[in-house]
Amino acid sequence: MKTIQETDQQLQFRFPQGFWWGSATSATQIEGAAREGGKGLNIWDYWYEQEPHRFFDGVGPDVTSDFYHRYKEDIQLMKDLGHNSFRFSISWSRLIPDGIGEANVEAVRFYDNVINELLVAGIEPFVNLYHFDMPLTLQKMGGWENREVVEAYVRYATICFERFGDRVKKWFTHNEPIVPVEGGYLYDFHYPNVVDFRRAVQVAYHTVVAHAKAIAVFRRMNIRDGKIGIILNLTPSYPRSQHPADVKAAHIADLFFNRSFLDPAVKGEYPSDLIALLKEYGYLPIFEKGDLQIIKENTVDILGINYYQPRRVKAKEHLPNPYAPFMPEWFFDYYAMPGRKMNSYRGWEIYEKGIYDILMNIKEHYGNIECFISENGMGVEGEERFRDDEGIVHDDYRIEFIREHLKWVHRAIEEGVNVKGYHLWTFMDNWSWTNAYKNRYGLVHVDLNTGDRTVKKSGYWFKSVAQQNGF
Ligand code: GAL
Repeated sequence: MKTIQETDQQLQFRFPQGFWWGSATSATQIEGAAREGGKGLNIWDYWYEQEPHRFFDGVGPDVTSDFYHRYKEDIQLMKDLGHNSFRFSISWSRLIPDGIGEANVEAVRFYDNVINELLVAGIEPFVNLYHFDMPLTLQKMGGWENREVVEAYVRYATICFERFGDRVKKWFTHNEPIVPVEGGYLYDFHYPNVVDFRRAVQVAYHTVVAHAKAIAVFRRMNIRDGKIGIILNLTPSYPRSQHPADVKAAHIADLFFNRSFLDPAVKGEYPSDLIALLKEYGYLPIFEKGDLQIIKENTVDILGINYYQPRRVKAKEHLPNPYAPFMPEWFFDYYAMPGRKMNSYRGWEIYEKGIYDILMNIKEHYGNIECFISENGMGVEGEERFRDDEGIVHDDYRIEFIREHLKWVHRAIEEGVNVKGYHLWTFMDNWSWTNAYKNRYGLVHVDLNTGDRTVKKSGYWFKSVAQQNGF
């Protein structure tokens, strides 16, 4: 038998002591019990009711992975797989069924139980407040377009800090706030399926105001050892070439999709060229006096970074149609780089170095703020075909995907980036919005008929990485 030191020396990539190994998920994607426990409806429950055909195989959010009933078993499995941390989100419409009123005691009990169970298992809970799931009542008032919803969110956040802040020390205001803007107000893949750039800008802006106001409350409450941040999908924009027109195209894509949230969250202000561009085209949002001050004063302690794929762009080949809706794509075209490596099961490019480029950018331009990889992972369609007789999915592609990304994270650490952990998307297969269960992402397979959990090959591999703190 080898001693610990011997095995340790064999590690090629060793991570700093206390590195966070774990995974991330969200309420709507795993809880199920959509109409149980006093939960109110959110936009996903409602949209599915209205248009079930827009969801892969017609599968909606009612049951998903049934975490609401199985959380004990799942948390035990997380522990078995070496997790020391886990991010989940609170469902706003479960905690406050009408979005505005009183906290639902059954929901408080549920989240208390989840948090306590995690702590007993030695897993630190990372709690996110908003993951694409607007309560229906508030959406009916206009969702993030309505300033009253900003206030409702701040109240919701306050209730969460009050109820759970004694035990939860890592808080996040939003997950990928650009996605509800894109999905709900530009590209028609989230409810309310609006295509309107002006409304999109307002939604994005109010999300930032809500975020900063929640941080202000958090600071006032002075939660002991508590940190608050935001989770952003920082998709790097790579220009096709160094031609100034390509570089400019990439810069504008970066402004719209990354820096519209990254700069206010970390630096407390919007990039001046983003403001100038919106102004030039007449799309500045409606704001209130004092907003910019609140944003300025309430920046994050910690940044979560989600990374799946790069965004390659080039200068536009044709002038935009002036009669068509105004879109970010007025300023760039997407570029399919010849020979790019693809995850053919999902149609996304795999570019491992992207994770390093993001981290170096954070080090060099964002004060090397404390950060962690809050999502990274590989979706695969039809994964069932890789199951063996015992039901174990042999997902060697996922192991390779994680390993190759981790190598770049490791290099960033060596170069001084303040990156504290790596959370995989995701622990167990979950319901991926309109894709439902089409693409599987988990370390653990979920049988959709029985709900049975079976650890995949990647789950065992990830466990060894977490336990040895490297590979
Ligand atoms: C992310 C999102 C998750 C999950 C993941 C995989 O953008 O935060 O909710 O769906 O993509 O598709």
